[in-house]
Amino acid sequence: MVETFFKQPDAVMRELVSYWHENEEQQAILDGFSENTISNFPMPYGLAPNFLIDGKAYCVPMVIEESSVVAAASSAAKYWMARGGFKTSILGVTKIGQVHFKWSGNTSKLYHVFDQVKEQLLKDSADLTQKMEERGGGILNVELLDFTDQEPNLYQIKGSFHTCDSMGANFINSILEQFAESLKHFFLTADNFEGDEKDVLIIMCILSNYTPECVVRAEVECPIDALGNFPGGINAQAFAEKFKTAVKIAHIDPYRATTHNKGIFNGIDAVVLATGNDFRAIEACGHTYAARDGQYRSLSECSVENGMFKFWLEIPLAVGTVGGLTKLHPMAKRSLELLDNPSAETLMKIIAATGLAQNFAALRSLVTTGIQKGHMKMHLKNILAQFNATVEESDKVREHFETAVVSYSGVRDFLEKYRLESSKA
Ligand code: MEV
Repeated sequence: MVETFFKQPDAVMRELVSYWHENEEQQAILDGFSENTISNFPMPYGLAPNFLIDGKAYCVPMVIEESSVVAAASSAAKYWMARGGFKTSILGVTKIGQVHFKWSGNTSKLYHVFDQVKEQLLKDSADLTQKMEERGGGILNVELLDFTDQEPNLYQIKGSFHTCDSMGANFINSILEQFAESLKHFFLTADNFEGDEKDVLIIMCILSNYTPECVVRAEVECPIDALGNFPGGINAQAFAEKFKTAVKIAHIDPYRATTHNKGIFNGIDAVVLATGNDFRAIEACGHTYAARDGQYRSLSECSVENGMFKFWLEIPLAVGTVGGLTKLHPMAKRSLELLDNPSAETLMKIIAATGLAQNFAALRSLVTTGIQKGHMKMHLKNILAQFNATVEESDKVREHFETAVVSYSGVRDFLEKYRLESSKA
């Protein structure tokens, strides 16, 4: 039926079917992730080798449709591998969930009984937390927040959680819904409350994707002299200063910060996707974090001091290596295997290192050759593939476009002329 929306329904149908998995069971798994699926949407699955992270070598899986990203990540990783690699640390793993509710009574009375409420919430959710506690996680804290100065009768129960190797959305949301039931029951049955005080209106229960206490740091550093020389006759010291200024610009100016952070997310999203994690959650959180002091700024920082070049990134990354799609998606499972089945914390470190590598590669190009040179090289490769250029033809085209501006029509004209001349020879 849906194919009738297309001009060539039969051809479109054949095309859609061509992307179905040949194994029906595998296709059923993919279909199960969503609704109304009619086919699969293939994306390139690439590998970025040469990542040395805390002394261990990784080949990082990346799912991304933008050319140059994987090449840039691999190139930056190789550059830093020769300079000690990436060093990472986990700054926190706490996740947050909220029960938003309305209650019309005296605020101080609510605070007065909150310890009892909290005890009840923890008791009632014990069954749900038992397994997580056995794994070393669970509920870390339960707080009452008062928003009545902004909205009449509005309060929040803010839960803090440690969800071990899972991203934890289901765990947190289930507990929050249990909290809501317990909260209602508490006020309904408490002796010292009467009338409207007995009624709690639950507005909603949901985890927060903002996790400013689930943060990883990735950094690279080396003596300035060890940075080497760069195209255009730029020496190490000049490069370091230009690079640092480029990062500073992304601190000062939100227009630049957005593009700067987009480059970081080129790397981050690609690994998040390849490992079956939720890239929307990661992006939403990262951008909120980037604006945590009231202005949207660069997520990475750079210092050039005492003869050392340092470049680092601190970013919240709520990811999992169990649960969700991580083990269900056949390729996500392979990605995790490729990364030696990391814990969630190790995956946070790998993802942050990839984001930092991506950011380094982008800034290195921007402050030296400009971004288009590398992009055009990739663009040229794609155009040559479209024209089925032979190795010899490709070499000739590359030679010609070393100094000329690459465009689709330019390459087409050059190839046509070259082919015509070769056929006459
Ligand atoms: C392109 O996808 C990403 C860059 O624009 C990032 C940046 O400007 O830092 C190159």
